[in-house]
Amino acid sequence: MNYKNEIAKLLGNIIEMPIDEIELSVETPANAAMGDFAFPCHKLSKAMRKAPNMIAAEFADKIGVSVNCFERIEAAGPYLNFFVNKSAYVANVINEICEKRDNYGTRDVGIGKTVCIDYSSPNVTHEFHIGHLYSTVIGAALYRMYKFLGYNTVGINYIGDWGSQFGKLVYAFTEWSSLEQVELGGLDELTRVYVKYHVEEEKNPELKQSARSWLVRMEQGDETALAHWRMICDICLASMDKTYKRLGISFDSYRGESYYNDKMTAVVNELQDKKLLTESDGAQIVDLTEHKMPVCLILRGDGGTLYPTRDIAAAFDRKEMYGFHKSLYVTDSRQSLHFAQWFKVVELMGYNWVQDMVHIPYGLMSLESGALSARKGNVIHLEDFFNEAARRIMAIINEKNASLPNKDAVAEAVGVGAVVFDALNKTCIKDKVFSWESALNFDGETGPYVQYTHARAASVLEKAADAPDVAGIDFSALTDEAAFTLIKSLASFPDKIREAAEKYEPFILSRALIGIAQNFNKFYHDNPILTSEAHVRNARLCMVRCVKDVLKTGLALLGLKAPEKM
Ligand code: ARG
Repeated sequence: MNYKNEIAKLLGNIIEMPIDEIELSVETPANAAMGDFAFPCHKLSKAMRKAPNMIAAEFADKIGVSVNCFERIEAAGPYLNFFVNKSAYVANVINEICEKRDNYGTRDVGIGKTVCIDYSSPNVTHEFHIGHLYSTVIGAALYRMYKFLGYNTVGINYIGDWGSQFGKLVYAFTEWSSLEQVELGGLDELTRVYVKYHVEEEKNPELKQSARSWLVRMEQGDETALAHWRMICDICLASMDKTYKRLGISFDSYRGESYYNDKMTAVVNELQDKKLLTESDGAQIVDLTEHKMPVCLILRGDGGTLYPTRDIAAAFDRKEMYGFHKSLYVTDSRQSLHFAQWFKVVELMGYNWVQDMVHIPYGLMSLESGALSARKGNVIHLEDFFNEAARRIMAIINEKNASLPNKDAVAEAVGVGAVVFDALNKTCIKDKVFSWESALNFDGETGPYVQYTHARAASVLEKAADAPDVAGIDFSALTDEAAFTLIKSLASFPDKIREAAEKYEPFILSRALIGIAQNFNKFYHDNPILTSEAHVRNARLCMVRCVKDVLKTGLALLGLKAPEKM
């Protein structure tokens, strides 16, 4: 039963508004005293030429005090509040979750539509560091949520595998390293010579010229230069892959910047044909002053192409390959202008699908000072960061539950999970300060807290040898305040997933999980489960299994594992 839809149908009889529009306006008040659902009447005030309070009162009169699944319908100020028949409501929710289990919350809203998500997309001359964390975990969460909603999803790792930094790296490699050394040392060896390059360049600026000539050789298709370049990219990608595996992430496309090398002339020509290019200091630009933005650089003075040009070529490629319904780009907010500029250029070129492209900017991550000393220079590698998280969780396990089976796997799942959850626990755009204390706090609003709650539910079920069949459940045993509040939070889980995906805000889902976990723990604290009377015990066990299933699904969507024991 869809309660919002029931309300829409009731109201649909008395107001001129499409049913689905009414349904979308129905709210779920945070305060239970204001009803389980509420319809705000402000919206109708203008059309009906009446104060919202009067409209609410009039509707309450027309509909009647109790209808079908609603025990009470009351006007309160500008709202029309609906109080559900609790047993029927509980039965509906529990039956649905028990029936759908892992699929509870899935939808078919996305069927037949493709969403491209460009995320992570690191520049591959260096190791994966914490600057890449947010794009990677936000993009991956959106990817999973869209998939869950039925969309065809394409995860794109648009790796930064071209540009002047490769000239430097190839030069450094040929000068101070060898294939044997790279085979032995891998990315560490490449980092060593890359750092050395910058040190040497300080002393001898002529090195820039040498690095530049390697880049020119690459651009001209010189086999030796390209072989070095490919070797470097392969090593960097292999190293990143380890981190992606730890996060349970894989991509559908690895078309990076270099893939577009030979696809840019077409873009430049089209811009020229459409009279959008202007010359400025030898470079070709699109003037965006009229649109209150700085010029968009398309072609460098020396003919080299630029970041926006590549992005435009890649957007055409994606549109053609996937015919996307939406195409998302997850990067930090310092790139907002870049996206606004080249989106505008695509618009000026006359493509109306530009409105289906969305830049999702996120804020910066910083560390509480001394949180993790950087071992290799001043960047913190994600691998080290995750290792540290797992190490700290292991210390907690050893202190609290030393005989836990599978300790290593649990420490990994909870440690890495804590970092991921922390990154997804606030609106994307906010700058965040990472603190080990708060991210790893088992009693805080954290990944470990949700995982621990899941394990607690698992342990109750294990002791009871699983939940009984839902068919014989006395649902009136779940209408007390604590159980009812918990069940309401389970009921809104599907809407939260949809909202999180549609607003590009995974934190809407992480907050919902925290809410469910808190409601469950409150219930668990105040009510016996295993030792209560049979009909109550059975009902509560069913509810516990629903909590466990929903937490597990939600954690998985955010990219966290849900260990059975912690
Ligand atoms: N490689 C870029 C960086 O590390 C991010 C790429 C984002 N995606 C894009 N299509 N521009 O900053």
